[in-house]
Amino acid sequence: MFEYKAINKLEKKLGSPFYILDVDKLRQNYHKIETAFKSRYENFIIGYSYKTNYLPFLCKELSKLGAYAEVVSRLEYDLALKIGEDPKRIIFNGPLKSQDDIHLALKNESTINIDSFYELEFVKEYALHHPNKQINVGLRLNFDISYNGQSALQEGYEVSRFGICIENGNLQAGLNELAALDNIQIAGLHGHFSTRNREIESYRKITQKLCDIAKEYRLDNLDYLDVGGGIYGELPPSFHQNAPSFDDYAEAICQIMNQEFSSYEKKPRLIIEPGMAMVANTFIFIAKVIETKTIREQTFVLVDGSVHNIKPTMHKHNLPMKIIRKSGTAEAKQVFNIVGYTCMEKDYLAHEILSELPEKSDYIIFENVGAYTIVFNPPFIKERPCIAAAEDGEVFIVRKKESIKQFFNEDIYMF
Ligand SMILES: Cc1ncc(COP(=O)(O)O)c(C=O)c1O
Repeated sequence: MFEYKAINKLEKKLGSPFYILDVDKLRQNYHKIETAFKSRYENFIIGYSYKTNYLPFLCKELSKLGAYAEVVSRLEYDLALKIGEDPKRIIFNGPLKSQDDIHLALKNESTINIDSFYELEFVKEYALHHPNKQINVGLRLNFDISYNGQSALQEGYEVSRFGICIENGNLQAGLNELAALDNIQIAGLHGHFSTRNREIESYRKITQKLCDIAKEYRLDNLDYLDVGGGIYGELPPSFHQNAPSFDDYAEAICQIMNQEFSSYEKKPRLIIEPGMAMVANTFIFIAKVIETKTIREQTFVLVDGSVHNIKPTMHKHNLPMKIIRKSGTAEAKQVFNIVGYTCMEKDYLAHEILSELPEKSDYIIFENVGAYTIVFNPPFIKERPCIAAAEDGEVFIVRKKESIKQFFNEDIYMF
């Protein structure tokens, strides 16, 4: 499929540049995660983190496989409904939920994890208006997960800004507020932390703490414990990183769950919310070489894509990539940079590559671009490219290349 002729044919159909989603890989990821956890703890659920990549086709595919939808905004919640997700299989997280959002999610019996006190007011209002209905809510908890005297959080933050703090008494205060209404039940505890190294130890700490809190606060009838997302997926060999496997994570988390709930007839459900692990390696981005030029000692390869298409955070690590050459012959190796179509100096898709210099009309395939790419890049200077899906040797469009009419949608822009 990645021979020059085949890509050239695809370019004619899709326009250049374009993304390809590998549907079989997506299914494999889902099954690998599911098998790792389910074989150790039966009552297990995957809530796919929509924000990582909410391409509707992909969300639907994961839903068909059995994933719940983990959403963090009304937009994502409505998307889940639009693709036909059963509202009872939606997990509504995130720091911002309006009264209307919460009332709708409660009416639909979705899972809601409350992040802050202001949300409790909306829950109480709903419960008061529906005295004969049992209202189930979960609480996202905030506790210290540092170890060896070091913060485990992304960017080294000392304190996470999410959830309800345990240490300062906020959890107890929240539970007291909810206990004032007979028809509100605490259904679950949620502990997602975005950690720096995605280490096993963080998951041990999170799982153990959620179990301890359940016991300390006598939450005996919990329906679920949700340990959040943030696990590593399978990394490309060029990342040279010894990442934990799905089995490693599952072993650490499920061992604690099994130990803590061994005597329970009905064990709580275990939820994880993978994003990156599910989708990062399922997408490639193919851009075409427009020109190569040398400026003083440096060589630049200009392509018709941008760093925004593959690394919206503009980090400097090179992604795994392949050059698909039109001529088949190549000159001696040299160092070059791959740069994009925007007018920004920092639009580098890859830095200091040592390889045979690509030529005009060659293609460059950037791998591992499925997570936080297509959702995270504003269409900047150019329309958003086409996305195709590859399945059983067939390639079909799942998002068309944007047109100027769609880019400047006349329903929302005033001309
Ligand atoms: C609540 C929640 N769940 C799941 C995720 C997914 O994280 P990842 O893509 O690192 O697996 C995130 C990401 O920030 C999150 O905030």
